[in-house]
Amino acid sequence: MSFRDSEFVTGLLLDSGFALADSMENADIIIFNSCSVRKHAEDRLISNISDLKLLKKRRPGLIIGLMGCTAQSYKSKILERLPILDFSCGPGNESDIPGIIKDILENRGIIVATDKIDQMRPELFPAYREDRYKAYVSIGEGCNNFCSYCIVPYVRGRERSRVAKDIIKEVKDLAGRGFKEVMLLGQNVNSYGKVTSLAGLNAKTYNFVHLLEDINSIKGIERIRFMTSHPKDASTELFKAMRDLEKVCEHLHLPLQSGSDRILKLMNRSYTAKKYMKTVEEYRKYVSVGSVTTDIIVGFPSETKNDFGKTVKMIKDIEFDGAYMFKYSPRPPAKSSGLKDSVSREDKEKRLEALINLQCEISLKRNELLTGKVFDVLVDGENKREASKFTGRTGTNKVAVFDGSKDMIGRIVGVKIESVTPHALKGRVV
Ligand code: 5AD
Ligand code: SF4
Repeated sequence: MSFRDSEFVTGLLLDSGFALADSMENADIIIFNSCSVRKHAEDRLISNISDLKLLKKRRPGLIIGLMGCTAQSYKSKILERLPILDFSCGPGNESDIPGIIKDILENRGIIVATDKIDQMRPELFPAYREDRYKAYVSIGEGCNNFCSYCIVPYVRGRERSRVAKDIIKEVKDLAGRGFKEVMLLGQNVNSYGKVTSLAGLNAKTYNFVHLLEDINSIKGIERIRFMTSHPKDASTELFKAMRDLEKVCEHLHLPLQSGSDRILKLMNRSYTAKKYMKTVEEYRKYVSVGSVTTDIIVGFPSETKNDFGKTVKMIKDIEFDGAYMFKYSPRPPAKSSGLKDSVSREDKEKRLEALINLQCEISLKRNELLTGKVFDVLVDGENKREASKFTGRTGTNKVAVFDGSKDMIGRIVGVKIESVTPHALKGRVV
């Protein structure tokens, strides 16, 4: 989502007459996009921006700006920690960045813009895209779930869906420009359209599955992905759509967070481990070749060895294709920041390492089952690590590495898998 925001703001700036610089040293304006989800990212951001002090001293005309969730979270207080900033702009105000920069160029002074946290962004369609064949398309903003560890509802505001006709217009335009794959983005894509007052939609007549159907019929688009799904909203209707709509990729990212019902309750996730398991079973019933990935947090306040053991058991029982795993960090004002961060750093690290090792084994085991099979792969480009090899993704979102040629980039080719690692499938084009 942050990637898309950066791309969007870059596009707006290009349309307003600015140009991309080739390096930070040569830039007149430097904008940092920030994520607040975990503390580590925030600490790195503060130190990276502080590192520019010398550059700014040498070139006082340099404009340094901050956008994204950290800007929203700190509002004007960010200036106490980063007095070097010329502007700071929350996610809801990002469409105003070209105007903010022009204002600073004319009048100097510092601008903090964080008042539009709950507003729909204006429907602007800057052409700039980082990729040539794959595009991120935001279908909504904000979140109403208030998982107790999560800062997102506080920095991205209430959930609101973009109007379907604007999304469809954007995807048709992308298809016309040769894009093959769209990744639909939202904090919780399955509740698309449910917030009727803001979306101008009615969930009973138009929901996420309808959006998938409409995008599925857009000529030129060959693949549709989406992220992220909340287990409470991932429905049979969705799984049937994934089975029946030929362009919708057979990959589900379904954050579990913990395998312990006690912790899930404290996290305000509104499902039990058993219910989650049933959801995955149902998905696998409808989308038999489908992959499932997840997010896990270790060391949530009061997580005992026993709770952690339940997470381990879930991971073993479900056998995810991949997992993003994180050490818990308190993110005020999220509710759990009021609980004692009781699991020591060492224990969090040990638990995380144990899960990473376990998941590696499972990913390898699951990938081994794919040896000898042929997959459709959308070719991304040359492999950065191995000369003359190319990479792409399967519909199940696995990385494939194979001998290829430049003319394959942006095309879907069949790749027969010959060997695997936990994180990649290796094969040849057939
Ligand atoms: N600490 C650790 N991980 C977190 N996540 C969200 N908030 C926190 C936090 N306070 C993780 C969740 C979420 C992913 C995007 O980031 O697993 O699904
Ligand atoms: Fe955060 Fe939960 Fe919303 Fe995801 S669903 S953004 S974890 S509050």
